[in-house]
Amino acid sequence: MFELKVGICESCQLVQLINEVPPEMMFNSHYPFRTSSSQRMQQHFREMALKITAAESQADSAPFIVEFGCNDGTFLESFARLGFMHLGIDPASNLVSEAVARGVNARTGWFNTETAAEIVESAGPATVIYAANTFSHIPDLASVFRGVDLLLAEDGRFIFEDPYLGDIVTKCAFDQIYDEHIYYFSATSIDLVARKFGLKLIDVEHLGTHGGQLRYTVGRLHQTPSRSVVDVIENERQSGLHSVERLKAFAQTVEFRRVELPKVLRELATAGKTVAGYAATAKSATVLNYCGIDRNLLPVIYDTTPEKQGQLTPGTGIPIKAFPQRSEEFPDVYLLFAWNHEEEIITRESAFRAQGGTWLKFVPDITLS
Ligand code: TYD
Repeated sequence: MFELKVGICESCQLVQLINEVPPEMMFNSHYPFRTSSSQRMQQHFREMALKITAAESQADSAPFIVEFGCNDGTFLESFARLGFMHLGIDPASNLVSEAVARGVNARTGWFNTETAAEIVESAGPATVIYAANTFSHIPDLASVFRGVDLLLAEDGRFIFEDPYLGDIVTKCAFDQIYDEHIYYFSATSIDLVARKFGLKLIDVEHLGTHGGQLRYTVGRLHQTPSRSVVDVIENERQSGLHSVERLKAFAQTVEFRRVELPKVLRELATAGKTVAGYAATAKSATVLNYCGIDRNLLPVIYDTTPEKQGQLTPGTGIPIKAFPQRSEEFPDVYLLFAWNHEEEIITRESAFRAQGGTWLKFVPDITLS
């Protein structure tokens, strides 16, 4: 049992879990999350690959793209097709096999100082090191930054995307806090930490993916930061994002959600409505356990992942099943756990609403629509 508790480091401003679950307990040959489970995310990674391809084609040195946390190869596939030199690394051997089957050069492993040293020795410096939804999962941040310092070409870019503390706090997206998410990055904290390793933040871009993320670009100290770095850091300072008062106010709002959400579920049950969870996301474990929602309040959660179907949700024992195929089996209400894919899901599930179905959401507020 691990206590899910968050704190802030006063010196580097990093908001982080106090207790860490050992990575090998989470990221192994049974890792169930696939990047390709969302159409929208597939498109996002194809677009990012195009952007990098365009920039790298202009550069003097031959491109070499390294991705850690390469998952099923969704991002690197574009580079493999173009014949770009690339390497993916991921501890989930089941997904590395899927990446290799797509023609991606990938291997099972952890990205750290040692593996970075091996890669640079065998294949030379990387012009781009990329990681999406991965860096914030790695407790040993220092080992990653040292690895980046060893592997990155002199003018190379370390680009990573992770949920943004600013969005988590303003949208009250408390379910982003779960075992895999060790860190809740911001532009301020990334710049402060990167500088300890002879690196710095040189660009930052706000993304709509996964409910609000930043795409950070880190480079070496001689590289010039873009205007956005100054702007975002200034915005974080003005809004008091890292202040203890602001974070305590966030915690208070989270406490309200904890009371309100089960209350809404009880009211729906009293009104005779059937409710089912939409997607057994990793995030849903926080919502269910923290709000005390078990199978009495939510009898089933549907999910597309074969490995999750037939299992029970951790700690709360709610059965996970494949989505109903026939509209007669739709519940009256879907509790949307995959709210970060809302647009894609609501568009695809238009038949559910058309026959009178209602969506229950809890980010940024609890709403029925
Ligand atoms: P996601 O919110 O991407 O991530 P996380 O699990 O890290 O919180 O959710 C991924 C899960 O949601 C995965 O189990 C597949 C499932 N899912 C569906 O069942 N239907 C969908 O339309 C989408 C987008 C995801």
